[in-house]
This record gives sequence, structure tokens and C-alpha cells, in this order.
Amino acid sequence: MKKLLAILVLVGGVSFAADGEKIFKSKGCASCHQPAADTVGPSLKKIAQAYAGKEDQLVKFLKGQAPAIVDPAKAAIMKAQLTVIKNLSDDQLKALAQYMLSFK
Ligand code: HEC
Repeated sequence: MKKLLAILVLVGGVSFAADGEKIFKSKGCASCHQPAADTVGPSLKKIAQAYAGKEDQLVKFLKGQAPAIVDPAKAAIMKAQLTVIKNLSDDQLKALAQYMLSFK
């Protein structure tokens, strides 16, 4: 599946993952979320594992419509960050979710 995605990305020249990465970095998410190490926030790997096969649920979380499942004790810190992305379209949120899920 990953290979197939990579091929689609190459052939299509457009990538949800690439857009998601841009959003992730431009919105400051990377300052608290590293690929593999837990810092202020859980690693992208941990998030991707918790949300494996649950892309829709992750999008809901990003919209503030689903509870935290990774580190609920620190949910307030993350909740404050959701305002930064509240004006993104569904497609952009989906791309953002797919980018994070690619760290599994
Ligand atoms: C100030 C630090 C900080 C920033 C900036 C930040 N986060 Fe977080 N994030 C956290 C912390 C702390 C947690 C752990 C609490 C939790 O699980 O909700 C977390 C958890 C998460 C989770 C897991 C949610 C769950 O179900 O538990 C996702 C997804 C996430 N962040 C996405 C993002 C995105 C996307 C951005 C950029 C818009 C972002 N974060 C910016 C600190 C941050």
C-alpha cells in the first residue's frame, strides 16, 4: 500500500502527504511533534500508531469533535492548538491527517 501510494504520488505529481507536510510545518505543529521522539507532544509515530486505520477519527479530533486518545492527560495543551487549524478545509485536514499517519 505504501509503495502504491508512492507511485501514485510520483505519477500524479500531487500528493496529499506533501500538502499535509506543508500545513504541519507552517502551522507550527512540528515545534511540539517530532517524527519519532516524544517532546512537548507525543511523537508522530505514536500518533500514527494510535490512529492506524482511523483517519476519519483523526480528522474529527483535528476539528475538535473527538476526544484525545494518545495522551488525554495533556489534552488541554493540544486543544489550544486546534484554533490554529480551525479555518482549514476538510481536504486540508484530511491531508494533514494523512501526513501524520504516514509516520507509522
Ligand atoms: C504547544 C505544543 C503543541 C503544538 C504546537 C501542537 N501540539 Fe499536538 N499535542 C500536544 C500535546 C501535549 C499532545 C498530547 C495531548 C493529546 O493527546 O491530545 C498533543 C497531541 C496531538 C495529537 C494526538 C491527539 C489524541 O488523540 O490524543 C494530534 C493528532 C496532534 N497533537 C496534532 C497536532 C497538530 C496537527 C498540530 C499543529 C496544528 C499540533 N498538534 C500542534 C502539543 C502540541
